[in-house]
Amino acid sequence: DEIYLDGLRGVVPAFPMTYAGWEARAHAALPPSVLSYVAGGAGGERTQEANVRAFDRWGLIPRMFVGAARRDLSVDLFGMTLPSPLFMAPVGVLGICAQDGRGDLATARAAARTGVPMIASTLSADPMESVAAELGETPGLFQLYTPTDRALAESLVRRAEKSGFKAIVVTMDTWITGWRPRDLSTSNFPQLRGHCLANYTSDPVFRAQLPAAPERDPQSAVMKWVQVFGNPLTWDDLPWLRSLTSLPLIVKGLCHPEDVRRARDGGVDGIYCSNHGGRQADGGLPALDVLPAVVEAADGLPVLFDSGVRGGADVVKALALGATAVGVGRPYVYGLGMGGTDGVTHVLRSLLAEADLLMAVDGYPTLADLTPEALQRVL
Ligand code: FNR
Repeated sequence: DEIYLDGLRGVVPAFPMTYAGWEARAHAALPPSVLSYVAGGAGGERTQEANVRAFDRWGLIPRMFVGAARRDLSVDLFGMTLPSPLFMAPVGVLGICAQDGRGDLATARAAARTGVPMIASTLSADPMESVAAELGETPGLFQLYTPTDRALAESLVRRAEKSGFKAIVVTMDTWITGWRPRDLSTSNFPQLRGHCLANYTSDPVFRAQLPAAPERDPQSAVMKWVQVFGNPLTWDDLPWLRSLTSLPLIVKGLCHPEDVRRARDGGVDGIYCSNHGGRQADGGLPALDVLPAVVEAADGLPVLFDSGVRGGADVVKALALGATAVGVGRPYVYGLGMGGTDGVTHVLRSLLAEADLLMAVDGYPTLADLTPEALQRVL
């Protein structure tokens, strides 16, 4: 309402109103090495582009005589009632996208302001306890990159529980980094590393394995981190993962129905359908195209979705295809780049306002009204 009323009053917005505008503004604000990290994807970036284009192959069919004057976008998820189905996907190295290096905290403040949940990445410039403290009443979820050292994994999860995170999201598709030509061309890895190790260097289990405190010997901390970062888990590890926490456990990166069924049988609480925004593997299907089969295989479990969402209409389409909640990555990172907490807040509010208005105009006043029948395949 606020954004719309400002428009009616003739107030010129401080930030652009479209994804293209956020991207352009962030491109102007961020150094090339940071941009290559945020904007880039795997290989020829065909999966990344296909993720976005996939939304154009679905069209919403408007309904009339609905009287959608009031909309209800609220959603129940893992015992929480969220004001909307939008969430911020986990993004590592957010620190580097903010002028003062505190991008994780700035993002958490935007979550606090908007009520849009944040999934905090393991790879942050500030420890998860500090991120959680900025979230206010808004729920945060903790995303775990499972280290090879089980004791370290357990410690990270314990800390997340103590900090008040409401769920653990285990990312399965990134135990190793994909082939990312833009990162390789700009050799930005040493720069990124300086903004993503806080959860490790603040961890007692991690610190105990170092020859000296990371403050005094940062190089050994980096070497240790490289050693423990990624665990190529197998199905045999799922019972252990499940046993790590009594919080809701969500697995991120599932795109194959068979994987979804096995995860479900293994006792997870939620499925997160995503191809990491096309950052990990090129030559893949768009995430949106696998969503219906994932939803079917999830058989009633909540399905979180991301990859390629660029506007409110995309949020609505993903919901109609069965997503319980819809995440964005790059859109809010560009918001952070263009204007810190204010920029992220602007992006989230714009996405929500567009989705809400679209549901009004198209006559789908609640999330329950958004079913596959609201859509028609275009091509
Ligand atoms: C990510 N993503 C990600 N995922 C995750 O589980 N842990 C992480 O640390 C990161 N880091 C990360 C950094 C950057 C710069 C981006 C853009 C993305 C993936 C993220 O959670 C999400 O799956 C995608 O961003 C969704 O695609 P879009 O919205 O960027 O198209």
